[in-house]
Amino acid sequence: MGLLGHLLWTLGTAWALAVVAPAADAQVFSVPLDAEAASTLHWRVDYARRAVQVEVHVGLDERAWFALGFSDYGEPAPADYCVLWRDWRGLVRLQDAHAAADGRLHLDAHQDCLGFRHTRAGNLTKFAFQRQFDTCDPDDYVIEEGTTHVVWAAGAGPLFRLDGVSVLGEGARRGMQRAQLLKNTDVHDDVPPDAWHLDVRADRVQVPAVDTTYWCHVVKVPQQLARKHHVVRYEALIQHGNEGLVHHMEVFHCEAPLGQAVPLYRGPCTAAARPDASQVCKRVLAAWAMGATPFVYPKEAGLPIGGPQFNPYVMLEVHYNNPENKSDWVDSSGIRLTLSATLRPHDGGVMELGLEYTDKMAVPPGQPHFQLTGHCIAECTEVGIPGGGITVFGSQLHTHLTGVRLVTRHVRAGRELPEMNRDNHYSTHFQEIRRLKRPVQVLPGDALVTTCTYDTRARPNVTLGGFSIQDEMCVNYIHYYPKVDLEVCKSSVSDASLQSYFRLLHELDGQDTGPHLGVSGNYRAVRWTPVRARVLSALYDEAPLAMQCNRSSGARFPGDWAAMAATRVTAPLPAAPRPCPLREHGRHGGEDEDEDGPAAAPQHADAVRMEDWGQGDDMDWGQGHGRH
Ligand SMILES: *[C@@H]1O[C@H](CO)[C@@H](O)[C@H](O)[C@H]1NC(C)=O
Ligand SMILES: *[C@@H]1O[C@H](CO)[C@@H](O)[C@H](O)[C@H]1NC(C)=O
Ligand SMILES: *[C@@H]1O[C@H](CO)[C@@H](O)[C@H](O)[C@H]1NC(C)=O
Ligand SMILES: *[C@@H]1O[C@H](CO)[C@@H](O)[C@H](O)[C@H]1NC(C)=O
Repeated sequence: MGLLGHLLWTLGTAWALAVVAPAADAQVFSVPLDAEAASTLHWRVDYARRAVQVEVHVGLDERAWFALGFSDYGEPAPADYCVLWRDWRGLVRLQDAHAAADGRLHLDAHQDCLGFRHTRAGNLTKFAFQRQFDTCDPDDYVIEEGTTHVVWAAGAGPLFRLDGVSVLGEGARRGMQRAQLLKNTDVHDDVPPDAWHLDVRADRVQVPAVDTTYWCHVVKVPQQLARKHHVVRYEALIQHGNEGLVHHMEVFHCEAPLGQAVPLYRGPCTAAARPDASQVCKRVLAAWAMGATPFVYPKEAGLPIGGPQFNPYVMLEVHYNNPENKSDWVDSSGIRLTLSATLRPHDGGVMELGLEYTDKMAVPPGQPHFQLTGHCIAECTEVGIPGGGITVFGSQLHTHLTGVRLVTRHVRAGRELPEMNRDNHYSTHFQEIRRLKRPVQVLPGDALVTTCTYDTRARPNVTLGGFSIQDEMCVNYIHYYPKVDLEVCKSSVSDASLQSYFRLLHELDGQDTGPHLGVSGNYRAVRWTPVRARVLSALYDEAPLAMQCNRSSGARFPGDWAAMAATRVTAPLPAAPRPCPLREHGRHGGEDEDEDGPAAAPQHADAVRMEDWGQGDDMDWGQGHGRH
């Protein structure tokens, strides 16, 4: 049927945005739903009403159904959906349903896809609805801070009813897109008049016909940067038409001595031909992932770049996502840095929290949610952060392939303060630097505790901490001002505790561990069982810490950091209450829905005249639930 065939993308994003932009003042955000950007998702966030307003544009056969929804990590089922379909009488409706593990849709007893609108011209369907963050319906996904996995499915009609249709069925098309739905809408751009752009972009890259390519592109920055500047903002420059291809991008500074040239390598990052001399390009300046809005520094600070000692090379890394293995992609996307020589009051800094990059921390195989915790302890912030404290305004959470959830907690004198950042649906494929909605002041003596949760059910062997993509990390790169000398505040289990653990495993549990094997070898020698995994977890929770409390120079702050006590929380943060009044259940999504129900605004597709459709002002967002 070519269900998602050709949306008239030539009409362009500007047109798409015009449809949703006019009402109210809320910003409209957009992401493509598939690699060709044949279907797109647009949304606005209404924090006052704790609701997301969604509009989908999709090329769809007249009788086809289209489901848009959410799942924990992008799986098509089980998942929660709002489903557009047309019944045998030609009535177009939107119903709230959930797909069970077998893919079959079941109507929710409570219907929460509200304020349905739709229009259609040719094969292009646009539909809109509103959804509370938390509907309090156990059949519904709760839209949380951090990453949301938006899933969609489409299939052929006609349907006599929705119940029982399978999103995994033969002929159904599916896809998934990650987005931070609950974006920070309180970011104000304040670009100085002398600002200029430094565009770091790929140059007509012939994207290889494989699923995943990391493309590296080294450039020399202009002479102007011999003078110190502040980066005040950066954003993606995506080549028109390649919105679905460019998955994420980072700009790195090449940390080499001033006189040392870095080869202007252009090619796959993992190619054997990549010169070793470009491996120094790894200090992150900017990071963007699909769906991210421009990153704007607060007016008090900018990221320092340039100056007399600045090595003038930077490297762009682009992750191309080409699941169809197409061979005809050509791309010149990149990142635009907005720079100013008018320096702001503070230099912004980046600090690493979490776990040390070391094989001393490991995740046993077969674990659905194993946790590792990295501590930035009070003793380290006492020596590393001056009396006035620092203000943290941004955060980039980072693990490798098995990380599924991260949180950084903030503790002052045993009392837990509001969390600094959390992502309950983290994906390594969606690492944005995000502006915090609530800037966090960190004082000397505060502790920051970062916990990562890993899912190793698909791993036959132990996963060790380390640098390779198959190894794991647990890091929160925090962006803050004013810049201080503390750069790394991370931990691992103390060496002595780990050695006695391996010894006891041998002596008491008959494992083939031994002093000659080294740390990695010892972890690999254990025959992992659920009980041994629990004992390891208890060791990590109880043992003293080896701290990396390091300056920007890479040297440790003075003192013996080999066996420090982990942060203890005496007064934990109470759980946030859910906004769920007791409410009447037992309504069924059927013909007799009330005003807010899925059948609230049934309409013949043909009833919408072309003029309305073209201007799109029938999508009157501001009214929320109104009838058409
Ligand atoms: C709509 O799609 C059908 C089937 O894919 C196709 O035959 C038809 O020409 C399309 N109509 C328009 C107006 O694009
Ligand atoms: C693309 O290539 C990968 C191997 O690189 C293969 O696993 C995958 O099935 C291919 N996908 C398609 C759609 O051909
Ligand atoms: C797991 O370990 C075994 C034994 O050391 C090795 O043969 C195998 O290749 C490993 N599997 C993976 C996926 O690394
Ligand atoms: C921290 O400092 C120690 C001692 O100087 C050093 O061995 C270690 O590599 C440093 N770590 C980082 C991440 O810079």
